[in-house]
Amino acid sequence: MRVRGFACLLWLIATRICAAGFEPNAAAIATAHPLATQAGREVIDAGGNAFDAAVAVAAALAVVEPYSSGIGGGGFLLLHRAVDNLDVVIDAREKAPLLATKNMYLDAAGNAVPERSQNGALAAGIPGTPAALVHLALFYGRLPLERSLASAIKLARDGFEVSTTYHNMAGYRQKVMAANAETARIFLDAGNAPAAGFKLRQGDLARSLERLGIQGSAGFYGGEFADKLLAGVKAGGGIWTAEDLAQYTVVERKPVVGTFHDMQIISAPPPSAGGTVLLEALNLLEPFDLAKLSVLDRRHVIIEAMRRAYRDRAEFLGDPDFTEVPVARLIGKAHSQEIGADLKLDQATPSSALKPIAPPHQGEHTTHFSILDTEGNRVAATLSVNTPFGACFTPPGTGVLLNNEMDDFSARPLTPNAYGLIGVDANAVGPGKRPLSSMTPTFLITKNRIGILGTPGGSRIISMVLLGALEFYQGAPPEAWVKLPRYHHQYLPDEVLYEPAALDDAAKQDLERRGHKLRLSNRDYGNMQAILWDMGAHQVSAASDPRGEGKADVWNAKLPALKALELPAPADKPKTRSVGVPIAPEAVN
Ligand code: DON
Repeated sequence: MRVRGFACLLWLIATRICAAGFEPNAAAIATAHPLATQAGREVIDAGGNAFDAAVAVAAALAVVEPYSSGIGGGGFLLLHRAVDNLDVVIDAREKAPLLATKNMYLDAAGNAVPERSQNGALAAGIPGTPAALVHLALFYGRLPLERSLASAIKLARDGFEVSTTYHNMAGYRQKVMAANAETARIFLDAGNAPAAGFKLRQGDLARSLERLGIQGSAGFYGGEFADKLLAGVKAGGGIWTAEDLAQYTVVERKPVVGTFHDMQIISAPPPSAGGTVLLEALNLLEPFDLAKLSVLDRRHVIIEAMRRAYRDRAEFLGDPDFTEVPVARLIGKAHSQEIGADLKLDQATPSSALKPIAPPHQGEHTTHFSILDTEGNRVAATLSVNTPFGACFTPPGTGVLLNNEMDDFSARPLTPNAYGLIGVDANAVGPGKRPLSSMTPTFLITKNRIGILGTPGGSRIISMVLLGALEFYQGAPPEAWVKLPRYHHQYLPDEVLYEPAALDDAAKQDLERRGHKLRLSNRDYGNMQAILWDMGAHQVSAASDPRGEGKADVWNAKLPALKALELPAPADKPKTRSVGVPIAPEAVN
């Protein structure tokens, strides 16, 4: 007995020593807006962990970046819980309403009508972000939900000064926003895009967040608040029902996991295409010694890998609850060998030469944030309302700007959506189905380094994370991952889209000589938020994309002992769930 006790003590000491060696010496947050970074830091300094900070950051972004994400939207949150090494994805993707039909966005002649899937109440899926915030607080955080929401509520109630980015985004969507009186009342200034410095107050949103904090999911998906959402959507020509709201659940899903040489990649599973396409591209690149290739050859093979991986996105990816997605096969090394067999070093493979996608039998303005706390908990979260200001539709009295994520479905086989992406049956509209996403919140792990990254950018998200992952693998710091000039290929259209700084004249000539078609992007794209924990160097660093207005913060934050905090437990916190108990994949509203 005594020997066993002694052994236990030794084991405990050993694990403490190991754990101490494997805890970061600083916390870090990188988000797309300084006020959101501040909200997250405040929660960690108050004794919250990375998951509480994620609640605070997501809610603050909903207020200060309403064009990017919000409680009228959804997304994917990749979590790592240090205490039991759990990696899990909270799938908070919007769901199609139960009355949705396959051809709901087609006109009488069978053509897709983008206005219907992009603007107004009919474009909105059932939001997932409110359920995700509740879920994070209940099962992963240390603080009560209302505590973590406090900064966002204050920002919404007291207002904040909008930036030039806000002005530009509102200018871009002004016409559609003006068509909805409630959206115009809240988000425009006398019908116009507010100038930078305009104080935006969102009283209804403050009250909606407050209600969510106190009542949990019932405060959004049920009761009087649900009635308000439904009445507004119905008056705007939408098709939501009480059942849609009552049955919305987030789903805990296993991340997709793969390797690139000695780097492990953990990323988003379907209904996001992100992790799968990222791993396919990395598998295609693995046989090449990228470090030894010339810069020109290297760029060419990366483009060819993107082309082939995005092709599979179009054919196979969709909501796994509705369609069989062969993820294991797609991310297997054998599959890449097969689809990479015709990859030539000296020549582009036209997309038309890849196996055609059979038609079925008949028929920035999203946000990403990364968080690391001093226990080693990590969050990579990409949240969205889809295109700027989502559907530009706000049910009166709620302050909830709704998403237009329904446009991420393939409205018609092989017809491009807002991002030029095509799909077939796997991503057709269906009642209760989640539209296919490109969001790619990702962890990268080598022996001594852990990376946390992601970005908005529609279809280009995956190629941006791919380029970032390759930089990480080469040992570059996060500043390099986020600032790297970008290029992109998504199979169709068969062209290389590039930022001006990505290709100089020699590079352009070289790619054209190999048979690539090039298209200059009319603006820089992406807004990557990245954190590096260098365990070898005992150093944490973080970077926010210079293309955006975000802020990365790294500071020495020691989590105070929980008992010293004397936090009130939320009334509905289930007793059966505790830290250390892995949560079986299931749905929680
Ligand atoms: O889920 C998706 O893939 C898209 N709704 C993301 C949209 C996006 O990133 C827009 N950002 N520029």
